Amino acid sequence: MTEQYRPDGSLRHLLTLEGLDRAEIERLLERAQGYVRAPGAPNPRSTTLAGITVANLFTEPSTRTRVSFELAAKRLGAEVVNLEVQLSSRAKGESMLDTAYTLEALHVDIFVIRDAEVGVPGLIAAHVAPHVSVVSGGEAHVSHPTQGLLDALTIRQRKGDFRRLAVAIVGDVRHSRVARSAWQVLRTLGTAELRIIAPPLLMPERGEFAGCTRFERLEEGLRDADVVMMLRIQRERMALDASLEPARYFAEYGLTAPRLALAHPAAIVLHPQPMNRGVEIASEVADGPQSAIRDQVRNGVAVRMAVLHALVAGRGPDR
Ligand code: CP
Repeated sequence: MTEQYRPDGSLRHLLTLEGLDRAEIERLLERAQGYVRAPGAPNPRSTTLAGITVANLFTEPSTRTRVSFELAAKRLGAEVVNLEVQLSSRAKGESMLDTAYTLEALHVDIFVIRDAEVGVPGLIAAHVAPHVSVVSGGEAHVSHPTQGLLDALTIRQRKGDFRRLAVAIVGDVRHSRVARSAWQVLRTLGTAELRIIAPPLLMPERGEFAGCTRFERLEEGLRDADVVMMLRIQRERMALDASLEPARYFAEYGLTAPRLALAHPAAIVLHPQPMNRGVEIASEVADGPQSAIRDQVRNGVAVRMAVLHALVAGRGPDR
């Protein structure tokens, strides 16, 4: 695994939440909370990233992650480049590493990378110059660290102390980088009870998600949960199966209002989006009073500002 820290102990890359201790995560969440603004309030502006160039290299589709990294970087005073991969020399066969070397020569200081292939953010991080940082914007099914942090921030804002919470992660856990990063951060923060709920086909391998209780029946796993995190079926990462036909899946695993009533009355509902309404979640729940889904999106910018800030803070006064 690529080293994420500089020799002085400051965070240089953020590729995974694995290996970040509780104090580091709490510092990031605290800083992110400072960047949160109520809807309609003026956005925070600073010069923390003045002179820094951030490049977004996304080879998989994204709305929230890419836009919020761009907004986060701009609000901190950075220059931002969004590489249109289909229009770049990647389409002519250039490797991701050569693309990164080229951008580094153009004085890019921070790469935000999303890729369907395992190991791409780590590969770039292992080859860039020492002053350059890499952040994963989503690595295959493996890791989505800023999503994990924004989920934790949303839970902390709404529910407080993790040591009193039961969190249920529901759906395609097997193929989900969101679930893996959520599990890592929630475990580190001392969450009392972690559950995964999935049909057998979408259940992760036995060796994964240590400490989670596994449920195949949604109704059973939802009982008294404080947080219900719904996941999209990652059709792009598996062969199709009849049991995952949308109407059939919704009948067994869709979060409806009567099913949500099995959870704690004050439970909140999360979803990383994009959502498939009527497949994993009913609109009445997604848009209902227990939904914290839009808070997650809002918190995404604040978390990404906190991460970018942390990465440049460790570069020292001369940067
Ligand atoms: N949650 C998330 O990663 O959304 P995008 O795919 O739109 O970035």
